[in-house]
Amino acid sequence: MFAVFILFPTPCTHFEFRKIIMDFYLGMQKDQKDLIFSLPKSTMELQFGDLFFKPEIRRAIDLKPVLAFPEKLISDFEAYYMFRDIYESDEDREAITRARLRYDFTIIPPAEIGGENVKTYGHYHPENSFGLTYPEIYQVIEGEALFIIQRGEWGRVLDCVAIEAEKGDLVLVPPNFGHVTINPTEEVLLTSNWVCRDFTSIYEPYTNLRGACYYYLGGEWAKNPKYSEVPPLRFGKPFGRMKEEMYYLVAEIERLEFLSDPSKFSESIEKFWKK
Ligand SMILES: [Fe+2]
Repeated sequence: MFAVFILFPTPCTHFEFRKIIMDFYLGMQKDQKDLIFSLPKSTMELQFGDLFFKPEIRRAIDLKPVLAFPEKLISDFEAYYMFRDIYESDEDREAITRARLRYDFTIIPPAEIGGENVKTYGHYHPENSFGLTYPEIYQVIEGEALFIIQRGEWGRVLDCVAIEAEKGDLVLVPPNFGHVTINPTEEVLLTSNWVCRDFTSIYEPYTNLRGACYYYLGGEWAKNPKYSEVPPLRFGKPFGRMKEEMYYLVAEIERLEFLSDPSKFSESIEKFWKK
């Protein structure tokens, strides 16, 4: 169904991107009747239920401060699309807001800049009053992803984990970890995430050290030389797997309590798998 996906030796144009997403949309219609993407020709919008959402667009030029080879960025393009605060109905919106959560989609089309696969900018979450930062949970909906999460203290990275995830996989960003998502493939990557809605992300640590402590270059992990000390990269596994789109946890939103109250992370995360 994704036979029309094209290899992008150079960044794609809007037209090509829309064509791909439209093909993507047609594929989604066949497979997931509950989740329909619509991209009218004039504007890009995501249709979820009966509602339409517009994306925030992160351009390649916006990523320049975190690229392995910023000088290799010759022409700008739309690097990825963030659809934030998605809900299917007003009733869902109320339940999500009451739980202090937010549901987002991120679409990362395939592209590379100087041999580095396109990625999200990277950020940490702030600490809440108990000294732990808010966790986050991702699901790969289409495509394949690499997540690189890292934990630092006093300017040093103490732990760094790469997690490979495919369709259906859930990836947990635990408290005190920053995170970056990479599209290592030649197909569109679509992820969703649940996260607490009460904070603003912190981008500076990634800006100051030009990205995560490892880059993904030509299929290999390479240390980021801006970091004075980098721990060996560990390879982790997804947190779990769900056949259904994790949006539908909205019906059992108490399972996501660990996201809004990191102080109870250890005990409340157990509730996640409890049916
Ligand atoms: Fe985040």
